[in-house]
Amino acid sequence: MTADLAARAAELRALITRHDRLYYEQDAPEIPDAEYDRLFRELQALEAEHPTLRTPDSPTQRVGGRPLDAFAPVRHAVPMLSIRTETDTEASGALNFDARVRRELALPEDAPPVEYAAELKFDGLAINLRYENGVLVQAATRGDGETGEDVTQNVRTLRDVPLRLSMPPGQGALFDAPPVPEVLEVRGEVYMRRDDFEAFNARAIAAGEKTLVNPRNGAAGSIRQLDPAVAAKRPLSFFVYGLGEVRGWAVPETHAGVLDALAAFGLPVCAHREICAGAEALAAFHARIAEARPTLPFDIDGVVYKVNSLALQQRLGFVTREPRWAVAHKYPAQEALTTVQDIEVQVGRTGKLTPVARLAPVFVGGVTVTNATLHNESEIRRKDVHIGDTVVVRRAGDVIPEVVSVLSDRRPADARAFSMPSHCPVCASDVVREEGEVDHRCTGGLYCSAQRKQALLHFAQRRAMDIEGLGEKLVDQLVEGGLIRTLPDLYRLGVLKLAELDRMAEKSAENLVVSLERSKRTTLGRFVFALGIRHVGEATAKDLARHLGSMDRIMDASVEELSQVPDVGPVVAASIHTFFAQAHNREVVEQLRACGIVWEEGEARVASGPLVGRTVVLTGTLPTLTRDQAKDLLEAAGAKVAGSVSKKTDFVVAGTDAGSKLTKAQELGINILDESGLLSLLGNREL
Ligand code: IVH
Repeated sequence: MTADLAARAAELRALITRHDRLYYEQDAPEIPDAEYDRLFRELQALEAEHPTLRTPDSPTQRVGGRPLDAFAPVRHAVPMLSIRTETDTEASGALNFDARVRRELALPEDAPPVEYAAELKFDGLAINLRYENGVLVQAATRGDGETGEDVTQNVRTLRDVPLRLSMPPGQGALFDAPPVPEVLEVRGEVYMRRDDFEAFNARAIAAGEKTLVNPRNGAAGSIRQLDPAVAAKRPLSFFVYGLGEVRGWAVPETHAGVLDALAAFGLPVCAHREICAGAEALAAFHARIAEARPTLPFDIDGVVYKVNSLALQQRLGFVTREPRWAVAHKYPAQEALTTVQDIEVQVGRTGKLTPVARLAPVFVGGVTVTNATLHNESEIRRKDVHIGDTVVVRRAGDVIPEVVSVLSDRRPADARAFSMPSHCPVCASDVVREEGEVDHRCTGGLYCSAQRKQALLHFAQRRAMDIEGLGEKLVDQLVEGGLIRTLPDLYRLGVLKLAELDRMAEKSAENLVVSLERSKRTTLGRFVFALGIRHVGEATAKDLARHLGSMDRIMDASVEELSQVPDVGPVVAASIHTFFAQAHNREVVEQLRACGIVWEEGEARVASGPLVGRTVVLTGTLPTLTRDQAKDLLEAAGAKVAGSVSKKTDFVVAGTDAGSKLTKAQELGINILDESGLLSLLGNREL
């Protein structure tokens, strides 16, 4: 063995130890998990080949994470283990695991398939909750697996964590069975939902405050806040997935049975779990969840397979710190390292300038990413992003990829700082940043072709004028070819003009003309939304239509009149008023009408339907209806669909994975319906 290898092992130990500290103790990781895993695997491989290199203090010899001195240490009654990881993206991860289990149980070839419990691998922080006689007495992190940190104060602030177990009906009154387990330790993951993470960061960005790096660090960092008041402000959730110490409770025979029992105690169990017989069923679960992953309300980094029978689990036992009866089958990472080749500025519909990093292509979250948003100038300053930097990019779910952080020690000497241009990169108009705003804006309005393009795309979108076939490429050509300067120009395009455009076969030109024609019959609400007035989203546009009834009334309304419309505050009212005070905007409306766009005026004032005057909130995933479909049905029945739960909410329609909205509705005692409840309500004309 050469001295080089010993030096490399020492270097890897130092690097991993440093990243462990950053990750586990400071909740401030510098490198993505995949990069860390590479280092870790390299060290493991070196040590396996040259056992003399394996020092007792090597990071491969422990689970990871030492308790912070500031939290009281908690010795786990039953160690908190980690699980073996399979990274194979194909079905082979499931097949390998099943083969290993069958071999270790010495099952004959023709034995029936082993039954597994398949569930999600949540990406957060592992926590042990200890209930004594049904009362939560302690919450602890995993720490090094033997000793964790007492984070009871912080965990108590989570709405998902019951402070007292609820007793399943039929128990508790019986004198021959203990009413509650004497000791029940449950294990699970504290995590942050994506919508909660984004809302938290959006508020932080707007306030110029520090953002959270990703939902996992949001969760881990919040739980390890020494001040519970800070933790209480972070939107955290919890799922339970297993047991720790148990006394005075008849443990069910299967893992699935344990989770059912825990759910009956009022503990949150994720609905995405299945019992799978054999390897193929596991592989199918893996594939199905891979597909659902982008639309889940929270991040997962894989799925977990567990032998369902607890008796078989016991027979299988452990190797070092990992059970032989469980495995994590991971998905491709959602974070990766790459370099910033340039920073360009994009102009949005309202003139907002968004800096975008052009990246060296990198495979992350299942796709190759070449661009990532940097949000605004203050975000770039805060994250200290330079052109040439090595950065962590993140792409989770359907969210636009974003630059999470910079590895400043890898900054090249020729890296360049970025500053916002003083003139629009597209139309050269002045760029302004209004007092109290974080965004820079181009003042070019519809003179700016970038704003014109975005305005067209907004106008054509499904929930506005619904012009099928008018996509980004076509809009680029129409605007750049000078065929469209204003919205009404759209309706003046004939098949002939369209067919001249590149890649636009005559057939699709005809189709577009047909959908343009079809879009002319619309509703006042859609039309107002389509105009793209700043601060006027779909719901506000509908409210305006409903309360003012006609386009002329909306255009001529004073700020006071506009403020009478529910949910229209002074900022929105001023924005609408300013919009219609501009002669060119009124002209656009007139010309669109002249092109033949029609709607029923006054339609909504005489609103009808079983739900007129009711406010409804939708949350979670419904079994058959999409969010849009449910919304359309409710609105057709006269209801107003709101985004958040308040005392004014009449009822909440909740599907699976409903989060804080559902909890809030329960707290406020608001009626909660599932999809079938909703459908029967819509059919019920008596209401
Ligand atoms: S079971 C003995 N189930 O993954 C088995 N763990 O290394 C103990 N995790 O940090 C773990 N989702 O917090 C299990 N459904 C799940 C999980 C899960 C996430 C985390 C766990 C730990 C790591 C296991």
